[in-house]
Amino acid sequence: MNVDNKIESLKASLEEALATVENQNELQQLKATYLGKKSELTQLMRHMKDLSNEEKPAFGQKINEAKQAFEALIDAQKVIIQKREMDALLKKETIDVTLDAPDFSPGSAHLLNQIIEDIEDLFIGMGYQIKEGPEIETDLMNFEKLNLPKDHPARDMQDSLYITEDTLLRTHTSPVQVRTMLEYGGKKPVKIICPGKVYRRDDDDATHSHQFMQIEGLVVDKETTMSDLKGTLLVVAKHLFGPDRKIRFRPDYFPFTEPSVEVDVTCANCDGVGCSICKQTGYIEILGAGMVNDKVLKMSGYDPNIYQGFAFGIGVERLAMLKYGIEDIRHFYTNDLRFNKQFKR
Ligand code: DAH
Repeated sequence: MNVDNKIESLKASLEEALATVENQNELQQLKATYLGKKSELTQLMRHMKDLSNEEKPAFGQKINEAKQAFEALIDAQKVIIQKREMDALLKKETIDVTLDAPDFSPGSAHLLNQIIEDIEDLFIGMGYQIKEGPEIETDLMNFEKLNLPKDHPARDMQDSLYITEDTLLRTHTSPVQVRTMLEYGGKKPVKIICPGKVYRRDDDDATHSHQFMQIEGLVVDKETTMSDLKGTLLVVAKHLFGPDRKIRFRPDYFPFTEPSVEVDVTCANCDGVGCSICKQTGYIEILGAGMVNDKVLKMSGYDPNIYQGFAFGIGVERLAMLKYGIEDIRHFYTNDLRFNKQFKR
């Protein structure tokens, strides 16, 4: 067979084989078959030695051209296969952007935290500092240093959850007052609010919870009077319940304050006229307060002849319930999104 025919027939069979090649691997094998050391084309070169010197260059050139032509065919097929593979990959990885996105609605602070942060902002604006204390508290801080000795009847007001004889879950945020006064060493004025969780041995129902939130306030300074307390609480009442609110003090008793008061705000619903919400009284009780008891000041290192103070304790759930007409305290702790979502900031 002459060399031209041989090359032609090799080329034809290469083209035929290329048409059925499916992937790069097969192509690689084909390349070896048609261009490798043992390929027929390479074998043809062996015939060189049988040729005359005049015939050799033309023969060599034919083989080289055939090599290049075969390579070009294989390369062209390579491009086709690569494109085919890429198309298949893209198709497989297609993302259907028309699908509904899952509901990743952003979270929001819990209503109680919103109220705490709001009150914190208000007090920071009046020059107060935010103080926190431990939720596991000593009997000394929670009671003794707040003028509630062991057999004091007022301890019954606060059914406590004891951990040991001397430690308990704090029943109020008032021990943070004590801790701060001790920290300041009786030397400098105190102006703080202390938000946090507190615990009582209570059966949970619509108005009772064994865990709830309080914000304690304490100001200790020279020449602090009850009118400072009243002015401060009026600002709070107006901020929370509207600019037209008024407040009144009613005498009350707390061991850590003397005198002690219960603070009422005019009902925002009826503007103090009387309605079902304020039980026809025109007022709603919002917190307890008073002038810091001299004994409490002394026990924490402040000289009551130089320093006086006022204090107050706000129940955060109670505020939220009054403000938004929530009638069951358990809503704050059951994490029902239908409830929580109503108070997105
Ligand atoms: N500690 C009181 C309670 O938990 C609330 C309270 C009342 C705090 C009067 C005060 C205050 O600082 O002056 O019931």
